[in-house]
Amino acid sequence: MKILVTGGAGFIGANFVRSTIASRPDATVTVLDKLTYAGSSESLAGLDRTSLVQGDIADRDTIEPLVAEHDLVVHFAAESHNDNSLNDPSPFVQTNLVGTFQVLESVRRHGVRLHHISTDEVYGDLELDDPEKFHETTAYNPSSPYSSTKAGSDLLVRAWVRSFGIEATISNCSNNYGPYQHVEKFIPRQITNLIDGVRPRLYGAGANVRDWIHVDDHNSAVWTIIEKGRIGETYLIGANGEKSNKEVVEMILEGMGRDKDDYDHVADRPGHDLRYAIDSTRLREELGWTPRYTNFADGLAATIDWYRTNEGWWRPQKAAVEAKYAAQGQ
Ligand code: NAD
Ligand code: DAU
Repeated sequence: MKILVTGGAGFIGANFVRSTIASRPDATVTVLDKLTYAGSSESLAGLDRTSLVQGDIADRDTIEPLVAEHDLVVHFAAESHNDNSLNDPSPFVQTNLVGTFQVLESVRRHGVRLHHISTDEVYGDLELDDPEKFHETTAYNPSSPYSSTKAGSDLLVRAWVRSFGIEATISNCSNNYGPYQHVEKFIPRQITNLIDGVRPRLYGAGANVRDWIHVDDHNSAVWTIIEKGRIGETYLIGANGEKSNKEVVEMILEGMGRDKDDYDHVADRPGHDLRYAIDSTRLREELGWTPRYTNFADGLAATIDWYRTNEGWWRPQKAAVEAKYAAQGQ
């Protein structure tokens, strides 16, 4: 099987390529990635049966011939960081909306199967005591330029399925953690701060809740949907991993041998979503998927080890990321 992975040099995409190559000897992978600040060819180092094309999904002349020669497109490429979308929404509109449009037009013209990767943030946020989690029929209600452009990309996929009959599935997953995640994101930022002797930074009071899932569980669910999912269907991916940001910072501090209150509160994110939580019943009951990493503390400990032993991978980005946060009072 020839698989085109857009955004495969980013965090989740690179882990997807790694697990695919390790577990599927029949697979060859082409990664199409613009190699923005968030992508790194080093995340794919040493992989057999994998080639990397540097290019933009929003450029028809780039994407079209690549789609034409593959059996499956797994579409991860996106601008993915909420804080960046608040500073400059423009690349989010361009990549997440125009880029997804070009992916859709290419799979339509060449009759290629597509799986579109999306986020639980399209549903907005929940109250801390909301009894009902996000599920496949929850109304879209995105809050940020990032989540609204992801919501728009999902709606484009749904429309192309209905109007043009393309063969596509969609998944909306909760917050991922694991190796190769950029140091701008919450968990790697705090781990690498602590390696550098800097106190973790918690936005606001730290009461916001995220539903953490290990990146390998996200990707095993994606394969389950590709193989068993119904065309045109949306599946929510989550592993019952709800934790407040304060709890996560305390776990990282304790896991790295520090006092659990050794962190700073900093300026909150504007429009900060309060809580995400996934009901993944459809994925589990219809398709028989279950997560492997059910103990967050163990997954977090392995992630801390990974950042400790792979400093060469994250070090080049760290100073610029921290300078940007410092300018925002974060
Ligand atoms: P990331 O920012 O780490 O990686 C994104 C990759 O896309 C990078 O390699 C970047 O170079 C590439 N890219 C950006 N613009 C491009 C363009 N125009 N053309 C080609 N490549 C381009 O993101 P991630 O965290 O790995 O997220 C991957 C996907 O998963 C995104 O669609 C995101 O919305 C979704 N998602 C992420 C999470 C999460 O917790 N990180 C959770 C649910 C869904
Ligand atoms: O829910 C899925 C989404 O999860 C994905 O769609 C996004 O691509 C991904 O970036 C992530 O979005 P979040 O905004 O939830 O992730 P982030 O890592 O930026 O922040 C997680 C939480 O931690 C959030 O409540 C903000 C907070 N935070 C973040 C940083 C960087 C802090 O308290 N301190 C920080 O330094």
